[in-house]
Order: sequence, then structure tokens, then C-alpha cells
Amino acid sequence: MDLTDVSDDLANVLFTQSQIDDRLDEIAAEVDRDYDGKNVLLVGVLNGAVMVMADFSRRLRGHCEMDWMAISSYGAGTSSSGVVRILKDLNTNLLDRHVLVVEDIVDTGLTLAYLLENLRSRRPASLEVMAMFRKPEAAKNAVEVKYVGFDIPNEFVVGYGLDYAGKYRNLTGVGTLAPHVYS
Ligand code: PRP
Repeated sequence: MDLTDVSDDLANVLFTQSQIDDRLDEIAAEVDRDYDGKNVLLVGVLNGAVMVMADFSRRLRGHCEMDWMAISSYGAGTSSSGVVRILKDLNTNLLDRHVLVVEDIVDTGLTLAYLLENLRSRRPASLEVMAMFRKPEAAKNAVEVKYVGFDIPNEFVVGYGLDYAGKYRNLTGVGTLAPHVYS
């Protein structure tokens, strides 16, 4: 599905697939330099990170491994509570590994803060985050994201893994949802 397929549902186009691809090239080059010879373990957070994991990992020129976590935020509605339940844990022991968490979006940062604390307790050699999108205006804490694709406005965005009611994850670009879709 591309942006023209759902143009009536979008208020604004934020990024095309090509802009996302260009930014991923830059981040992958940076990660290759930073993890030279280190066999980084990419930890993807389901479901949203599937797209970015697939596109980002294939751009790395060095070896990497991948593992996945599924988590669910406690609490009502769409907002993060910051308390996270692990639905599917990693298969990999993190002890002394170089771990790079791959996220589609950091919104309030509460999910990530909880996740990082949990992963840090497993004593990895290093622990960093790559997030395709970040909403600086929504941040409720100062969780450090070393590699950021794009900072975006605090609006309802869909596409490239980001969903509304389970849909639009397979949209190649990213846009803000028009109010008539959710009101
Ligand atoms: C999204 C995203 C992060 C979290 C960020 O996941 O993948 O894990 O929300 O929100 P926060 O910064 O406010 O805590 P979501 O719970 O929507 O699940 P999904 O990946 O399955 O869409």
C-alpha cells in the first residue's frame, strides 16, 4: 500500500519510502562504524518495528543477529502507562552482548524506559536504541535514543509499521491521519 492508495485518509504526508530509505542508509553507515567487528544483537519490539528491522538490518554491511520481544502496555486506551508486560521474551542471553533495540517510534518514552531498565538488568556489554521516529513534544522522560530516524510532530501518524486500529502498518510512507478517520 502506498500513500496514493490512502490519500483520502491522510491529512499530511510526512515521509515517502524513498526519504525513509535515504535516512536508513545514513543510520546504517553510522551503526556499521560504531559496531565495527562487534556482531551487534538487534532487538526488535513487535509489532511496529518489523518494517524498520527488515529495512535497517539489510543495510548493515557487518554481521548482526536479531531477536524479538512482544510487549503490552498496561492501562486503558491508546496511551502508554509505562508499565509493560512481556508477552514474548527474547530467546537470546544478553550477557556481554552489544544490544541495539530497534523501535518504530518513541512517543512518551515510557515503554522504552521500562524496556531498557529490564534489558540492562541482564548485563549486556552495551545497550543503545535506534528508533525510526520520535515525538519530542510527547516525551515524558529523558530516555536516550542514540540513533533517531526523524523527529515528528505530536500528531496521529500511520504507516511504516505504525498502525491505527491495526491498519496502515503496510503503508510504505508515513502520514498524519485525517480526523474523519478516527472521530
Ligand atoms: C508503540 C511503539 C512503542 C510504543 C511507544 O507500540 O512500538 O513500543 O508504542 O510508545 P511510548 O513511547 O508512548 O511508550 P504499540 O504499543 O503501539 O504496539 P505496536 O508496536 O504493536 O503497534
